[in-house]
Amino acid sequence: MARPYVCLLTLAAVLLLGIATVSRSKGLRGKGKGHQRAPRIPSQFSQEERVAMKEALKGAVQIPTVSFSAEELNTTALAQFGEYIHKVFPTVFKTSFIRHEAVGEYSHLFTVQGSDPSLQPYMLLAHIDVVPAPDEGWDVPPFSGLESDGFIYGRGTLDNKNSLMAILQALELLLIRNYIPRRSFFIALGHDEEVSGVKGAQKISALLQARGIQLAFIVDEGSFILDGFIPNLQKPFAILEQTPMPNMFGGGPFKMALQQLANEFPFPTNIVLSNLWLFQPLVSRLMERNYITNALVRTTTALTMFNAGVKVNVIPPVAQATVNFRIHPAQTVQEVLKLAKDIVADDRIQFHVLNAFDPLPVSPSDDQALGYQLLRQTIQSVFPEVNIVAPGTCIGNTDSRHYTNLTTGIYRFNPIYLQPQSFSSIHGINEKISVQAYETQVKFIFEFLQNADADPRPVPHLHEL
Ligand SMILES: *[C@@H]1O[C@H](CO)[C@@H](O)[C@H](O)[C@H]1NC(C)=O
Ligand SMILES: *[C@@H]1O[C@H](CO)[C@@H](O)[C@H](O)[C@H]1NC(C)=O
Repeated sequence: MARPYVCLLTLAAVLLLGIATVSRSKGLRGKGKGHQRAPRIPSQFSQEERVAMKEALKGAVQIPTVSFSAEELNTTALAQFGEYIHKVFPTVFKTSFIRHEAVGEYSHLFTVQGSDPSLQPYMLLAHIDVVPAPDEGWDVPPFSGLESDGFIYGRGTLDNKNSLMAILQALELLLIRNYIPRRSFFIALGHDEEVSGVKGAQKISALLQARGIQLAFIVDEGSFILDGFIPNLQKPFAILEQTPMPNMFGGGPFKMALQQLANEFPFPTNIVLSNLWLFQPLVSRLMERNYITNALVRTTTALTMFNAGVKVNVIPPVAQATVNFRIHPAQTVQEVLKLAKDIVADDRIQFHVLNAFDPLPVSPSDDQALGYQLLRQTIQSVFPEVNIVAPGTCIGNTDSRHYTNLTTGIYRFNPIYLQPQSFSSIHGINEKISVQAYETQVKFIFEFLQNADADPRPVPHLHEL
């Protein structure tokens, strides 16, 4: 993901340890009834396949596909990466119903033709490029892909070569088992996500729009299975800004997520969360006390650059500051700009918007939302210990912003456990993924692809019965 300060789920699967209640709600049912189709392929992999799987990821990490800036990409590495995926996923490239195209030279688009053209296609996204990683501070060199204590280390192991490799790996394994998809899908792998996605994702999107494609949904990187993210009120983090943007709690999907989570909490939290009409001010204050949940309730402000002066003995005539805002879904660029001007309240200071776009629309998460329901169903089967799946907000931009014309459902979810302390390794030091977590990610996609082929029958509205 591009410059994530905090990325909390568009789709959050929240694990609440020690609570026995399992709230399993209605989901898509593809099994059992309905007409006969090819039997389900079990997600069981041989020892040999499991070794090949992790070695393939290590090899991907070793290719330094760094985006230094929008103008400076390591094109040698990007070209090498294209050759690499041909080599490790030969079946994907030679299957007759899969079309591969290089877009913008280094990005890749796969069109997987399903057997049933009446089903609306979907798309999986991942990206090839990574942010730079100087050696300093790392336990192992960042492009070594070394394995240690059950973890594969290296830049891109969480962002986002894990997703990229897992998607192609799961497809390769399914194809080897003679899988024939029913629903068509696309796989789009951008090569400049970390620096805008203009050369990759934007071009792929334009190509698909020109072909008149409309997608049922998109699944992209973004959030994780969050373990221990429920605000820890014992150890609140300080809020650094003296004049933060207003608290917008209640304006985005996060409030809905909390309401869905309410029953999973012990007394008295369950009562509080079930009665947000009364306790909203309290909850929103508590959210502010942790830097991660704070980013869910307001637009965040980060002063990223400050320049003034050219010489020690000359008073600088001009000073310039660059501020990066992550805009809350309930606000717009213009509203944030106006607030910033009002806070500064000094007409000697000029404001220039360098680059901005309004928050993406909130994707559907109701019973009829196919992408959401497929994710929920797959989470519940691959992670049976996760007892609730809830929608949330992803703070941090990804390539999916280029695809808003193609679908109304964009879900950003990485099927991987993430503890709060691992957040900083993404774009930081010692980024790593456990071998087991990576295998599970492959398994997740393996299951997801098959779930997407199940009957898209509408889910009954239980409350209407
Ligand atoms: C770019 O990638 C090539 C090929 O993988 C590598 O040898 C080279 O060191 C990389 N350059 C930089 C500046 O990272
Ligand atoms: C979406 O479609 C509109 C109308 O065709 C076009 O002007 C706009 O550039 C497209 N946006 C993206 C992100 O592709």
